[in-house]
Amino acid sequence: MDLYQPEVVHVNGEQFRVYLTHEEIQQRIKQIGTSISRDFSEKKPIFIGVLNGAYIFLADLMRYVTIPCEVDFMKLSSYGDEKVSSGQVEDLKEINANIRGRHVILVEDIIDTGLSMKYLIDKVKLMNPASLTVVTLLHKQDATRYEVQIDYTAFRIPNLFVLGYGLDYAQEGRNLAQIYILEE
Ligand code: IMP
Ligand code: MG
Repeated sequence: MDLYQPEVVHVNGEQFRVYLTHEEIQQRIKQIGTSISRDFSEKKPIFIGVLNGAYIFLADLMRYVTIPCEVDFMKLSSYGDEKVSSGQVEDLKEINANIRGRHVILVEDIIDTGLSMKYLIDKVKLMNPASLTVVTLLHKQDATRYEVQIDYTAFRIPNLFVLGYGLDYAQEGRNLAQIYILEE
């Protein structure tokens, strides 16, 4: 299978360069899958992916999880087509599963300001899960303004716009196999 993984890519008039390779990403996700399998054995966790950005990460992560588990999705919107957060979170899709008493693992593509994750955590807690765990592929620590619980972080990255591996810029670039960073 030939993956889409150029060194440099142009999206929406901006240039991006590869920052995390396919191998680096897969190796790290495998480690997290192994940890989750160990930490949640006998708990049958339910993964809740945050659409759209987390779909590829979640799909790969779940294939490295070797215990019984379930999956569902929520959809939020905060970025619109811009490179900076709008500062508002909108619910676009609710979860269908009943998560009361369940071990919930929230899976996000990236925690930037932390607003979306704070909103999600507050929302899920109201549904009375047995436990709530947060997994993020990327964390822009220097941009985080809302205090949020993060249990597993695949990569900490600088405060620059990134795309690929599920993350978009104005809806483009999600199919790139690697993670790319904006060149200024
Ligand atoms: P936050 O609410 O500011 O933490 O932003 C989180 C959401 O904004 C993420 O779920 C992403 O969908 C989006 N986002 C934040 N930073 C980036 C980026 O660098 N590239 C693409 N999307 C991003
Ligand atoms: Mg997102």
